[in-house]
Parts: sequence; C-alpha cells; structure tokens
Amino acid sequence: MKFPWLELALTGFGATAGEAEVDEKVHNVAVIAGSSTAYYLSRFAETLPTNAPALNITIFEKTDRVGGRSLTVSAPSGQPVELGASIFITKNEILLNATRDFDLALGNLREGSPGDITAIWDGQEFVYQTTDGESWWWDVGKMFWRYGMSPYRAVNLVKDTVGRFLELYEEHNFPFRSLSAKVYELGLVKQTGITGSELLKQKNVRHMVSCNDAERTDKKQIDEKFARHIIQAATRVNYASNLAFIHGVEAMVSFATEGAVSVEGGNWQIFDKMVQSSGATLHRNTSVTSISRPKQDGKYFVSTKIDGSASAAEAYSIGFDEVVIAAPWQFSQITTDASVLRHKIEEVPYTKLHVTLFTSPYRLHPQFFGLAPGAKAPSNVYTTLSEDETPASGADGVGRTGFYSISTLKTTNNPNTGRLEFVYKIFSAEAISPAFLSSVLGTAVPDSFTGDKSPISWYHPAWFHSYPIELPRVTFQDPVVGDGVWYTGGIESFISTMETSALMGMNVAKLIVDEVGSFPQKGGEDKVAEDMYGKGADGPGDEL
Ligand SMILES: Cc1cc2nc3c(=O)[nH]c(=O)nc-3n(C[C@H](O)[C@H](O)[C@H](O)COP(=O)(O)OP(=O)(O)OC[C@H]3O[C@@H](n4cnc5c(N)ncnc54)[C@H](O)[C@@H]3O)c2cc1C
Ligand SMILES: *[C@@H]1O[C@H](CO)[C@@H](O)[C@H](O)[C@H]1NC(C)=O
Ligand SMILES: *[C@@H]1O[C@H](CO)[C@@H](O)[C@H](O)[C@H]1NC(C)=O
Ligand SMILES: *[C@@H]1O[C@H](CO)[C@@H](O)[C@H](O)[C@H]1NC(C)=O
Repeated sequence: MKFPWLELALTGFGATAGEAEVDEKVHNVAVIAGSSTAYYLSRFAETLPTNAPALNITIFEKTDRVGGRSLTVSAPSGQPVELGASIFITKNEILLNATRDFDLALGNLREGSPGDITAIWDGQEFVYQTTDGESWWWDVGKMFWRYGMSPYRAVNLVKDTVGRFLELYEEHNFPFRSLSAKVYELGLVKQTGITGSELLKQKNVRHMVSCNDAERTDKKQIDEKFARHIIQAATRVNYASNLAFIHGVEAMVSFATEGAVSVEGGNWQIFDKMVQSSGATLHRNTSVTSISRPKQDGKYFVSTKIDGSASAAEAYSIGFDEVVIAAPWQFSQITTDASVLRHKIEEVPYTKLHVTLFTSPYRLHPQFFGLAPGAKAPSNVYTTLSEDETPASGADGVGRTGFYSISTLKTTNNPNTGRLEFVYKIFSAEAISPAFLSSVLGTAVPDSFTGDKSPISWYHPAWFHSYPIELPRVTFQDPVVGDGVWYTGGIESFISTMETSALMGMNVAKLIVDEVGSFPQKGGEDKVAEDMYGKGADGPGDEL
C-alpha cells in the first residue's frame, strides 16, 4: 500500500479534513536537545508526499550552545581544544558525511613532533612504549615480537564487532523499534553479555571473527599481558574503565581507532550545523521541565524554564504530536504525567570523569614515572593496572597510577610571555590536586594552580557524567517509550559515542517520518504500524 494515509483521508477523516486543514497539515515535533534527530527529520521529510503533513520541529536546549558532551574551549592563544568528545572514526558514516556535507575540515587530534614518546604506565613501570605517535596501538607488526599473534587476533575481533554494528545502518535493519532485538539479531549480545576480559579469554575467538585464511587455524585466546597492557589502556582512556567492568562490545569499540579523525575547530560544529540545516526553531538556554498529555490521545505539552533563572517554569505555547527526548533522562530533571511514559526509562550508573586542561612550558617529569633524571619523559601516558592489582569499577578502579591518561595535545604560544608551551589534558577519577601536578611536572604548583610563580599559565578543570559504566547486559532501553514519545539515550549502554547517539537520532527520525507518511493522524496500534512499515521497505518515506 503506497499511500495508506490517502485512503484513510478519503474515508473516515475526509469530512473534517477540509475545515481542520491548517492544523492537521502541521505535525509538531518537540526535540529535547537532539541535533541529529532534527537534522534527519528534515532530511527524511523531504521524501514525504506533498499532501502529507509538514513537520515543524522545535528544539529545546538547556545551555547556550549545541553539542552537549561534544564541546570545545579556547586556550589563551585562541587555539580550540576539545574538552569533551574528541575523536571519531572514518567508518562513522553519519559524522563523516556531515563533515562532507557541511564543508568541515578534518583536523589532527594531536600535533606531535617526531620522536615523541607515547607510553603505557602501570604505576611502577612502562609496560609498553612507542615513538610512532597517533596510531600506536594499531601497529600490530611492531607488537608481534612482544605479544605474538594476540594483536592480530584482537584486531580481527574489533573488525568483526565494528562490522556487525555497521549492519544497523543497512536497509534491512533500519529503522529499528527495538535496540535489544537488533543487538540480539546481529549476534552482538554474546559480546555485550560478558566483560571485555571474558571476551578476550575465550578460546574460540575464530568463530567470532570473519577471518582470513591465516587466522582460520588459530584457536588460541588473547594473551593476558596484551589484554592488560594494551587493550585495557584503551578502555581506560576511552571509557575510564578496566576490562573486567566493561562489556565486550564497548571494549572492542575502545580499540577501534583505525582512521581516527576530528573536526578542525571543534566537533560541536557538526551538531550546530545539523540544527541550522534542519530549519528547526532552536530555543537556547531553555530547559524542558515537564511533559504532559492532558487529553488521552491528544497533544503533548511541555513546560520550559530559562536555565539558571529563578523564574517559574512556563507552559510552552503550542502542543506537540511527538516528543523526542535526546538527553540522558536521569540527569534531565524532566517530570512527566503518568500517561506520558508507557515504558519506564531505566536509570543507569554513569561514570564521573574529571577532564583537566592546562598549559605549561614544563615537560612531564621523568622521575615521576621512575625514570632516571635527565631521561626523556613521554609526551603521552596511558595507564593500566599492574599484575598485582585487583581491578575495581568506577573511581576505585583507577588503581596505583591515580589517573587514566595524560596527553600533550599541542604546543601553544603564551600570549603574555611569548613562550612556547604545551597544552595538556588529564583524564582522572578525582579532581586533580596541586600536589599531583607538582610531582608530574617536577616543580611546585601553588594551591591557586595559576599565578605569577606558577609553572601553569592556564588551568581549565571540568567534570562530566561522561558515559554509562558499561557493565555487561543483554537488553537495552528501546527508543519507543510512549505513544509518540521517543528516547535516544538507551543506545549509550550499548555503545556511547557521538556516532551512536546520532544514529539513534536518525533512527527515531525515520520512525517518525514513516508514521507521518503512513497515517493522516498519529495513533493506532503499534502492531498494525509494525506490520505496515516495520521492515522499512514499504512506506513512502523510504529513500533519503
Ligand atoms: C570527556 C569525554 C570524552 C569523550 N570522548 C569521546 C570521543 O572521543 N568520541 C566519541 O564519539 N564520544 C566521546 N564521548 C562520548 C560522547 O560525548 C557522547 O556519547 C555523546 O556526546 C552523547 O550525545 P547525546 O546527544 O546523546 O548527549 P549529550 O551530548 O549529553 O547531550 C545532551 C544535551 O541535552 C541537554 N539537556 C539536558 N537536559 C535538558 C533539558 N531538561 N531540557 C533541554 N535540554 C536538556 C544538554 O544541555 C545537552 O546539550 C566522550 C564524552 C566525554 C564526556
Ligand atoms: C512551528 O513551531 C514554532 C516553534 O515552536 C511555533 O512557534 C509555530 O507556531 C509552529 N507552527 C505551527 C503551524 O504549529
Ligand atoms: C544564554 O545565557 C547566556 C548567559 O546567561 C547569555 O549570555 C546568552 O546571551 C543567552 N543566550 C540566549 C540565546 O538567550
Ligand atoms: C553517507 O553518504 C553516502 C554517500 O553519499 C550515502 O550512500 C550514505 O547513505 C550516507 N549515510 C548516512 C548515514 O547518511
């Protein structure tokens, strides 16, 4: 049935369609901070027949800026520095396409100099080091002498996981109403259901990899040292987690850094451009405080409040046919009527991560890492646990090293002194102290961090609920949480990245547009709807 809404319009709804035309021809969608949802709503809406209702999108954003956990700050020189999400991989189609479509240049995440050392530290010694710069954990050839076939096995496992994940974008899987069902169908539930350490210990790795001939005969597990030294350094820098407390898929995602890129000037620009290009009305500084549906099957109403103001929340002027919640629910401080959420949105534990940016002319101090005075200290230090440490989760899991990573991002000119300085970034479980910085730099840092006599010229500490603590699980919060109420945040317990959040936004957008294209009005049984457009193959809104 190509245009089911037309048939209905000619029958049941025909009589009133004339009078109510103005109203019924606009389908109002409230989007709570979802730039990719808004963008793809407008893109997919282009495929609707001309007499389908027009989508009118309203975005509410609590802060003054678009991008959420993707945000950039300026060093004193004016150079942009990523405070939040910093990299994505070129296989991330939504983000990569956006950089192409919006003419955003891809930049170098880190501007190292030849000979810069990147090292993995366990709190006692460097367990691995390289002078290769960016793609250090991918140079499996160089790791062979040390870890044998384990790096190859790990790389194949990552390829397999990423390959299966990418099937979610394919026509036969997209759009999807149930993330749990898709994770199961793609065969990824075997990996989300166990920890990274368990996954890497499995002997039958070859059954899970799409392997080349050389690998076909290889049935051995991944070496414990390789897992702890290399892969755990990756899960710690990417998800602040040890391998024993992160599920297999997210552990593999941590190690999937092939083709890592970022947007010159800041990744947030992708999301800002998405909002602009969507044609949506954007209300900045505006928190949604409540969602209600006074009449059964009627419109949804939201209350909003200017963020940070003492004034009371006010009812927003128009009613909505759909509401998309694209912010982590548990931190959004939104209340709802009993009838709004048909499915409870589960609270999940999030990691609290401290991100500290600072500039200093000092290099990292060799003695802090137990090196001889005068030895060349590394520019980038990733960390892991040593053999005698018992892994723990959350902040306790950081272990003897006391931090997850320290990176030298770039050099910068101090605008006051003209000196060349380094821009550093530290990921840690606790706020960084002056004492810690004094040891790391080998010179006294005052309690004020900066100031006349300080070796630190700029200090910018921040913390985030950065991502869920990715414990093993086999079901995920589905995007359909009510009748015309959608939630994108459930995907973060599966994979928490900019791309996956954008993918869920695109998915919800497609589900909404398919519904708008199928019916003159929202409503009807999920089951009926599922049969009509569930496979994503039949609706008028099919092609992008
Ligand atoms: C330090 C750090 C490093 C990271 N590194 C990477 C990385 O390298 N690569 C990567 O892909 N991912 C990385 N991530 C993860 C990535 O940032 C997130 O997965 C992704 O940004 C989530 O996007 P989101 O839109 O779902 O949520 P968010 O980015 O959290 O956006 C939610 C938005 O909702 C708004 N909001 C909240 N409540 C309300 C309300 N009531 N009303 C209106 N608006 C509201 C917020 O202001 C915010 O703008 C990192 C995260 C952090 C913190
Ligand atoms: C479209 O949305 C804007 C912003 O919320 C609103 O002001 C306007 O009234 C809406 N238009 C219609 C026809 O509903
Ligand atoms: C949002 O609030 C900030 C800080 O109060 C203010 O500087 C900015 O102009 C506001 N932006 C809008 C669009 O109202
Ligand atoms: C990205 O662009 C390619 C080439 O134009 C297109 O085939 C693909 O569908 C796009 N992907 C997404 C997610 O928009």
